[in-house]
Amino acid sequence: MIGPGTRAVVTGASSGIGAATAELLARRGCHVVLAGRDGAALTEVAGRTGGRACAADLAGPDAPARLLAEAGEVDLLVCNAGVGWAGRFEDMPLADIERLVQVNLLSVLRLVRAALPAMLARGRGHIVLVSSIAGSMGVAREAAYSASKAAVQVLAGSLRHELAGRGVGVSVVVPGVVDTAFFTRRGAPYDRRRPRPVPPERVAKALVRAAERGRAEVFVPSWLRLPARLRGLAPGPVDALQRRFG
Ligand SMILES: NC(=O)c1ccc[n+]([C@@H]2O[C@H](COP(=O)([O-])OP(=O)(O)OC[C@H]3O[C@@H](n4cnc5c(N)ncnc54)[C@H](OP(=O)(O)O)[C@@H]3O)[C@@H](O)[C@H]2O)c1
Repeated sequence: MIGPGTRAVVTGASSGIGAATAELLARRGCHVVLAGRDGAALTEVAGRTGGRACAADLAGPDAPARLLAEAGEVDLLVCNAGVGWAGRFEDMPLADIERLVQVNLLSVLRLVRAALPAMLARGRGHIVLVSSIAGSMGVAREAAYSASKAAVQVLAGSLRHELAGRGVGVSVVVPGVVDTAFFTRRGAPYDRRRPRPVPPERVAKALVRAAERGRAEVFVPSWLRLPARLRGLAPGPVDALQRRFG
């Protein structure tokens, strides 16, 4: 399904995982619409990929629908844009909670809602949502972020049930720690030795493969599936281990 002629929209394409995904899709011959706020960075990625830059702040309520209207027909929608926030939840300003939910969750709901009718009318399409291991496990000092990413994972599951047999697939990608600007942007650089960050290109490869094979859920690196599944089976002991070693 993914190759010359595929029309893709990638959000958060100005940096990190989104830029790596746009580059990989372009190498496969796809036509890529690149979304983000940073016009200069988008133009730079567009120059490398031959894609079309669409600057948009996805926190705005109308931005997702506008982006998709500008993009035209879409075969592959990659909802990747996201922001973090690190610190104690009791200290998190309400405005930051709202903005994080707007970007990480509401914009995803709006993008999918805007893209689905045309995909269903054509009887084909694929949607990839980028979540996080924080959404599978819950992480201290990342409560709002973890909650937003958990919601994205459940959204993917619900849509998969609802869309089964209708030609539109949904995958969710669950990365662990990735070597991007994400941590410095949220104001708390990643300073642990383990787990070692993976390059964004590795996430991009897994993401494109998941879309191609219609895989429901992909962890990057793949061993992360184990703690996520174990937590589902035995939340108490796994939470205790996470507090001790996390
Ligand atoms: N890095 C990690 O360890 C990690 C782990 C698990 C999951 N993730 C998830 O992976 C996704 C990509 O993150 P990354 O690691 O590649 O970080 P990144 O390099 O900081 O990229 C984040 C992207 O999101 C875009 N974005 C942020 N706010 C936006 C807004 N209001 N409107 C439109 N675009 C916006 C940014 O573009 P502009 O600045 O141009 O707006 C940027 O392109 C995120 O959803 C993140 O939660 C990351």
